[in-house]
Amino acid sequence: RVRKREVPCRHDINILTPCFLSIFESLVPTKDEIVKQEQLLFSLRNLVTKEWPNAELHLYGSCANSFGVSNSDIDVCLAINNSELSKLDILLRLADILKSGNLQNVQALPHARVPIVKLMDPVTGISCDICINNLLAVINTKLLKDYAQVDKRLRQLAFIVKHWAKCRQVNETYQGTLSSYAYVLMCIHFLQSRKPAILPCLQGMKVTYKAVVDDIEYSYYDQVEKLHNFGAHNKESIAQLLWAFFHYWAYKHDYTKDVISVRIAGSISKHAKDWTRRIGNDRHLICIEDPFEVTHDLGRVVDKFSIKILREEFERAADILQYDPNPTVTLFEPY
Ligand code: CTP
Ligand code: MG
Repeated sequence: RVRKREVPCRHDINILTPCFLSIFESLVPTKDEIVKQEQLLFSLRNLVTKEWPNAELHLYGSCANSFGVSNSDIDVCLAINNSELSKLDILLRLADILKSGNLQNVQALPHARVPIVKLMDPVTGISCDICINNLLAVINTKLLKDYAQVDKRLRQLAFIVKHWAKCRQVNETYQGTLSSYAYVLMCIHFLQSRKPAILPCLQGMKVTYKAVVDDIEYSYYDQVEKLHNFGAHNKESIAQLLWAFFHYWAYKHDYTKDVISVRIAGSISKHAKDWTRRIGNDRHLICIEDPFEVTHDLGRVVDKFSIKILREEFERAADILQYDPNPTVTLFEPY
């Protein structure tokens, strides 16, 4: 590992950029798909507000944070203030409402880590998960979307990384690998750390956006249209960045000492967060701090087996970009 820490990127890496950009373009959802998502949200809103006039439905996750690839499911959050019904009652009632509203495969999963109702809309063919009052997810969705608007390389990099993770089967939290949300945070942190930086630290700037959830205030700078030149001093291409991203996670990140943090645009020591040992099921073998729920390590799902798989995949990806004659194909070969 140490031996490869300082290798420079191959000199002709830039010839790969057009190919990676066309892979990115092929993953972006079509206009038609976006329209269908909006149609579905519209009909869900109709159904829900008939029962609960003050309830709101928010999109979150990849369909709203601008990191969604084509043909993704959509994630919806029901925001409801109802003191009479428990969360479980709301979930079950919601499932009944949806069943009576022409939606298919409606299924309440009250015991999931995040309780949800799943459904499929036969009109648009889109599947959807609805959670209840998970408003922090709506706020972190906005944060990711705002970061994406600062520099277009973030979205390009994250799409390719997510695509790679799906092809290589390292995007499955139930198998101990990382969520898409974690990969996007890794990309943001990485671009914040380039020299010169490609992304700013929105949570470290003047506050222009505030939201309160459960009496806690969350805030950051969201006037991103004023930052569209932020990364202009850095001319790195998407191929260079992709290589450097994998090289960082393969050979440079200090897994024993460091926690990456988008909130501070840098690293924090595991010691300072008391994430140095296993606590309950949280093993902290790769540490990614949630930007708002700072006690959440998005790497907590990773165990002693999956950390090995993940690190080998980072090394494989870095080495392919460095040495393989046909990297834009080999990188995505199914696991
Ligand atoms: N989320 C979260 N905390 C986590 C995981 C997810 O708050 N530990 C929220 C985030 O708002 C995230 C959303 O749930 O955007 C959906 O998470 P995930 O399925 O990982 O990501 P998507 O962006 O929806 O990716 P995909 O395209 O793979 O569905
Ligand atoms: Mg999703």
